[in-house]
Amino acid sequence: MSRNPLNIGVCGVGTVGLATIGILRDQCEALLARSGQSMVVSHVGARREHPDHDYGDARVSRDVLDVARDPDVDVLVELIGGTTVAHDLIKLAIQHGKHVVTANKALIAEHGNELIALAEAAGVQIRYEAAVAGGIPVIKVLRESLAANVVTEVAGIINGTGNFILTEMSTKGRAFDDVLSEAQALGYAEADPTFDIDGTDAAHKLVILASLAFGIPLSIDAPMKQGIQEVAPEDLEYAASMGYRVKHLGIARRTEQGVEMRVHPTLIPEHKQIATVDGVLNAVMISGDAVGEVVLVGPGAGGAATASSVCADLVDVARNPAGSGPALGIAAAALQAPSWVPVGDIASEWYVRLTASDQSGVMSDITQILASRDISIESIIQKPPAPESDKVPVVLLTHVAPQSVMTHALNEIMALEEVDADAALMRVEAFDR
Ligand SMILES: NC(=O)c1ccc[n+]([C@@H]2O[C@H](COP(=O)([O-])OP(=O)(O)OC[C@H]3O[C@@H](n4cnc5c(N)ncnc54)[C@H](OP(=O)(O)O)[C@@H]3O)[C@@H](O)[C@H]2O)c1
Repeated sequence: MSRNPLNIGVCGVGTVGLATIGILRDQCEALLARSGQSMVVSHVGARREHPDHDYGDARVSRDVLDVARDPDVDVLVELIGGTTVAHDLIKLAIQHGKHVVTANKALIAEHGNELIALAEAAGVQIRYEAAVAGGIPVIKVLRESLAANVVTEVAGIINGTGNFILTEMSTKGRAFDDVLSEAQALGYAEADPTFDIDGTDAAHKLVILASLAFGIPLSIDAPMKQGIQEVAPEDLEYAASMGYRVKHLGIARRTEQGVEMRVHPTLIPEHKQIATVDGVLNAVMISGDAVGEVVLVGPGAGGAATASSVCADLVDVARNPAGSGPALGIAAAALQAPSWVPVGDIASEWYVRLTASDQSGVMSDITQILASRDISIESIIQKPPAPESDKVPVVLLTHVAPQSVMTHALNEIMALEEVDADAALMRVEAFDR
């Protein structure tokens, strides 16, 4: 006996919303075959008219909240973004007993604990595969496929705009502002790209990944966050000459001290798979005790790629209306807050670039300061001075040291008369610990 169609309400008809409606229309037979239920966009929430959009036979409401109130809608798909209207909309949909599918990482990272608890209490599903790494099915992998593992680390390139900018700067020697303008023109970056560049977008996604990986509540205030705007072209060059690539990584790691969560530009050995993921691609690396290392690579953004994940969530809802387990892998009430490793205690190897006077004794002063704080040097490069300059760049790679120790040492070095006060400092992650 054939089931009634799954009635879908789509709110937000921008890049992802329109692509979702397109897939549901164009792939309706394949989706029926896979889910066992036909999927129909029955109601669209679009705050203004778009004469060129085709919503089929769907009812259209200018007030998106009407979609949440529509008794005929089974699943509300929120593709508006932000944490205001989208928040009200999802709460209302849950109150009206509807399943929710969203691509909204900011909302899940900031209000997911509340929304997921509400959905669990109401017996509806809230699904968010598209919220992290666009088309890469990483939520399902962490929530379902790796359920047998103790996950110790999740690390990834989870902002395509940032990766595009760093890739263009390092492979073509282009300037940051120039690449950013192109990223905006190509539609990779938001009109306001602040969150892409300052690490906020990656931090939102990392918060979600860490919650799934470690069974902890979504912890929006936890990540240490550093953007890509400080990465100088010469640092990309020096890193490459030493066998490293610079990537903007989100890293969540469980150690004996607790959980650390951070987003920052990072030197990675060029032989690591994640170091070769360029352009707008995203990559997520997961370490589990049973499986070892899993790396997922794919498009982290774009209308069709993101809609692919939205539609996969809809297929899951159709296949299994009762749900396939808690949204965060563990019931909201059973998630356990971890102890966080203070930022100053987070240890790593370090890349340091200094500018020093080209005179004898300076190198010895620098190495003595590092040695006095037990920071051993792995390699050191002193470049020739630029023409008509008496200053030389000094580039160091150190062994592992906590951030607080490293920054104290660096401050002491920069206080030397022969050293300029504008050093560059980046973490190095070999991912072999
Ligand atoms: N684009 C991507 O590659 C991508 C990837 C992964 C996740 N996401 C997530 O997907 C969601 C949608 O992103 P998008 O790129 O599709 O955004 P978008 O192109 O800007 O579209 C947003 C849509 O929401 C509507 N909207 C905005 N504010 C509204 C409000 N206050 N009330 C009613 N409608 C409102 C807009 O209306 P108008 O049509 O009137 O402007 C537009 O139709 C976001 O959460 C985003 O983070 C996007």
